[in-house]
Amino acid sequence: MRFTRHDALPYALALVMLCFSYLAYASSGQRSGGMRTAPRLHARTPALGEACRLPVGKQMEAVKAFAKMMPVFKHDRCLNCHGKFNVLSADEHTGAGAAKESKLDPTTLLTVSERNAFHKPCGNCHNQVQGKGVRPELTTNVVISGWMLPPPPMRWVGKDTEQLCILVKGFEENADSFVSHVASDHGEVQFVKAAFEGVRGLDSESIDLYDVVPEPPPGSMGQLIAQGTGWARLVGDHWKDSPECGCVLPKIKLKVEHTWVFDTPGGVPSRQASDARFEVKLEPYGEDRPNYFQGQISLERPVDTKVPASCRATTSVKERWEFNALLEPDSGSVKVWHTQLSDEPTGEIVCSQGGGTARMNADPGALVGLLGAGEMVIPLDSTRRKQASFEGLRESLAITVLAVPEAK
Ligand code: HEC
Ligand code: HEC
Repeated sequence: MRFTRHDALPYALALVMLCFSYLAYASSGQRSGGMRTAPRLHARTPALGEACRLPVGKQMEAVKAFAKMMPVFKHDRCLNCHGKFNVLSADEHTGAGAAKESKLDPTTLLTVSERNAFHKPCGNCHNQVQGKGVRPELTTNVVISGWMLPPPPMRWVGKDTEQLCILVKGFEENADSFVSHVASDHGEVQFVKAAFEGVRGLDSESIDLYDVVPEPPPGSMGQLIAQGTGWARLVGDHWKDSPECGCVLPKIKLKVEHTWVFDTPGGVPSRQASDARFEVKLEPYGEDRPNYFQGQISLERPVDTKVPASCRATTSVKERWEFNALLEPDSGSVKVWHTQLSDEPTGEIVCSQGGGTARMNADPGALVGLLGAGEMVIPLDSTRRKQASFEGLRESLAITVLAVPEAK
């Protein structure tokens, strides 16, 4: 009885491919131990869910769509009110004296009445802003109007795009209400409109007197509304799924199906086959390598070994899979590098022959196919499949990329 090994060549090939795939990402840098987690907000966010159920492709589109508004959001005309400009500093601000009159500090939490008191003198110069709103205070409603600084939780300065997105989303009830904010400041005080006029809400007299040059943010208010609407529609009903939903690139997981069959007609065994189905969660590498993810899994997969009726086979193989992935926001695809490493082969074939017993190692660990190491480009939310055959080997590998609807 002879134990045929048809697998020597595919194994060698697999080793070569394995080396290539290691090189492919070894050259792209170091892993930074730290995982990316969204920082906790000090701002109050309404009751939010835990998992973002938006399909991963849509999540990526949304993150991209929000970023389009950043040239405006991070422009001085918006950011100066939202925390960048120190109104109390005489070096920075012509109106510093007026801003100090109330002795209140606008970077601390003030009551509505205190805010009105602080902003009272601002209108002497900043009087070109329309509209008014009403805010409740204890038992009464207080009217607010005119040029005003946002309260401290709405200070955007020092926040990156993701943090800003989470903050802004948390202050709006739903997608429509965000659009209404950008389009019309909820029909209250028209700060966005004033920002696009570029002149800090100053009247023409002050503009001349203080040599203020109009500097509106890039694009038009119409464009900002269109961009804001685009983002908000993408997030849509998932607005409250989780704070990160539509703001932070999703974590991804891979669904893997790997099957192989070795046929060795006339051999013992005459066929070995194994199906493995598993999921691997990928973690981001960290800030220094945006859009890169990695993950691994160890598994022991049973091998179905076909032997003559007089024999019995118990065979399995321990292996480890490593995955590296690069999310490509422009194409909406993920490039996946995968490596399959076989650890310990285990298995035995026992045959009864004329009253005696013969045992042999089935050694399925050596049955490494052609597809274990390599790379694939996979569109989000979809599956790519590879197939190979070589002499008696038939192998297939399918990988699906999905978002992780995960609680934080
Ligand atoms: C005496 C006129 C005057 C008064 C009063 C005044 N400001 Fe100003 N403010 C200016 C001028 C002029 C600028 C443009 C920058 C500069 O030259 O100081 C400005 C700029 C600003 C900016 C930056 C806006 C941007 O788009 O870059 C903010 C915010 C601001 N003021 C807030 C206030 C607040 C809040 C008050 C009231 C507490 C106030 N200002 C009172 C004259 C005034
Ligand atoms: C004169 C100062 C001022 C300017 C200029 C200004 N804002 Fe605001 N903004 C405010 C105030 C005040 C609030 C809080 C309104 C309230 O009480 O509901 C606010 C709130 C917001 C909010 C909701 C709260 C948050 O943090 O998400 C958004 C969104 C916003 N502003 C967008 C903008 C954009 C975009 C621009 C520039 C095009 C801009 N603002 C320019 C004063 C300003």
